[in-house]
Amino acid sequence: MCGIIGVVGTNQLKNVLLNGLKSLDYRGYDSCGIAAILNSQLQTFRSSGRIEKLEQILPSSLPTRIGIGHTRWATHGIPSVENSHPQLSNKKNFAIVHNGVIDNYLELKNELLKKDYTFSSETDTEVLVNLIEDIYEQNHDVLKTLEITLTKVKGSLAIALLLKNDEEKIYFAKRKSPLLLGVGNNINYLASDATAMYQLAQKFISLHDEEYGYISNHNLQIFSHGEKIKYEYLKLKTELLNQDLNGYPHHMLKEIEETPTCFARLINNYFINGKFNFNLEMIDTLKNAQNVTFIACGTSYHAGLVGKTFIESIGKHSNVYIASEWAYYPEFRDNEVIILISQSGETADLIACLELIKKKHKKCITITNTRGSTLDRECDWSLLLYAGVEIAVASTKAYSAQIALLFLLKSALIDDISCIDKLLRQTNYLKSIIAQKDKILILAKSIQSSSNILFIGRGLDYFLCLEASLKLKEISYIHSEAFAAGELKHGPLALVDENTPVFGFLTSGKSYDAIRGNFKEVQSRKGKLYPIVLKKYACKDDSFIFDAINEELAILGLALFAQYLAYYVALLKNKDIDKPRNLSKSVTVQ
Ligand code: M6R
Repeated sequence: MCGIIGVVGTNQLKNVLLNGLKSLDYRGYDSCGIAAILNSQLQTFRSSGRIEKLEQILPSSLPTRIGIGHTRWATHGIPSVENSHPQLSNKKNFAIVHNGVIDNYLELKNELLKKDYTFSSETDTEVLVNLIEDIYEQNHDVLKTLEITLTKVKGSLAIALLLKNDEEKIYFAKRKSPLLLGVGNNINYLASDATAMYQLAQKFISLHDEEYGYISNHNLQIFSHGEKIKYEYLKLKTELLNQDLNGYPHHMLKEIEETPTCFARLINNYFINGKFNFNLEMIDTLKNAQNVTFIACGTSYHAGLVGKTFIESIGKHSNVYIASEWAYYPEFRDNEVIILISQSGETADLIACLELIKKKHKKCITITNTRGSTLDRECDWSLLLYAGVEIAVASTKAYSAQIALLFLLKSALIDDISCIDKLLRQTNYLKSIIAQKDKILILAKSIQSSSNILFIGRGLDYFLCLEASLKLKEISYIHSEAFAAGELKHGPLALVDENTPVFGFLTSGKSYDAIRGNFKEVQSRKGKLYPIVLKKYACKDDSFIFDAINEELAILGLALFAQYLAYYVALLKNKDIDKPRNLSKSVTVQ
């Protein structure tokens, strides 16, 4: 949550900071701000709401070459000007932007109050900047101050810091929250992710926990626990960071329709010269494992449910857990490989799990879309999704790519290369769903005024119901729920009446009779039933009929259907599709 940016060495400070913030605002968008050293003073410009509001209060230019910026997802205190970043220290010597949560901020605040510090916001960040000022007053050395600060604060932080009397440097520190440095030609950057600087910087460095240091226009230094460290540049496919809308009205729509390209890219990366191109040691470890455990959150958790089914289909035990649950009630099994699934690679709940996994010396794999993210760096093996940056908060192409990659992985474990042809041919079926999207728009029109919507299915279809329901509520704000269809009569059927649309997913012959029976139960209670059915099981009155290469991959068609449905309902209700209220793309707080 929250995006931070810093740049030193540019004559175009205002534009660079604003453009950077616009690239980062999918991480948080309830308030924002900028700080710069102007006329030897630290000046801040802050606004609640979106960046466009900040633009209105900024002067026509910022005549300086160094500045920092922030886009916020509120944790401590409501979204307001006072609580937005940058926060200044009491003596106005320091300005800070922060992504993370200082767990012991109340304790630190009490100590500072005893020293007569005052606070004008509810934020943990204001405590942090005053703690920094307090330590600095004793040693007048910012790097030493950051080293000491890291020993005093508990929690997560990625910070960029300006010191009033130092117009050359932006200082930084990192723990748990992501932070990258970008190196350009006599201009250096830092940001929460590479999207904010990929057009400007030539090289990138992904910082590790407990690292701190500074960037100036021609130099950068990184330290850890008092020692200067050597760093490596990150290999990034910058073409995958492009955020242009390419004529689309919303990122979500663009990203849904990029799904077929994602599959082609996955195949190009994981199948080369007629052979699977996975790390051999990883494949051997998986082949020898009796248990494969998936851990993830939200949409990625729903991909994990599909992954479990895939793994079980090749004769292994598999479990899937919600990360925020597993982190508090971890269960380890013998001969187990753990797979952490995360689009962003930075989800705090998963990083908490990773710490436990490492303590137990268990092997872990990540499936992530983000090169250089914490999970990409810290897991034993990283399987990149190569889906291209996903901007819309609602995950779409990354979810489908997760399922496609899990399908390739399970096929690699049984040396079944027929998966490549199947996945390639499935992309054509997806294109034909894209061509029929207007039919989904018509369905969306018929449900847009509903206040409750249900999704029912069995087996894999049930997992897709969970995802469809999450997607719909996330961006349309309509209450929806998903049920394993057989559970209807054990309670949820009481919700069904003539005002309740019920979407029934059917792609499997195994449960054909049972689910058709459930559809009848809904209709008998006057529920508005919408059967979404794979062609070979379809009846002429079904609401949406689509085809697929086989039953196993038909869920990818359901995913596309569900994503369009949510998109169109949100569009018809005039909602902020790419940035739904209260949410953030990258959930870096637990
Ligand atoms: O980056 P991750 O995949 O770890 O994110 C997990 C969830 O926060 C995410 O999938 C969330 O549920 C999406 N916004 C759903 O569309």
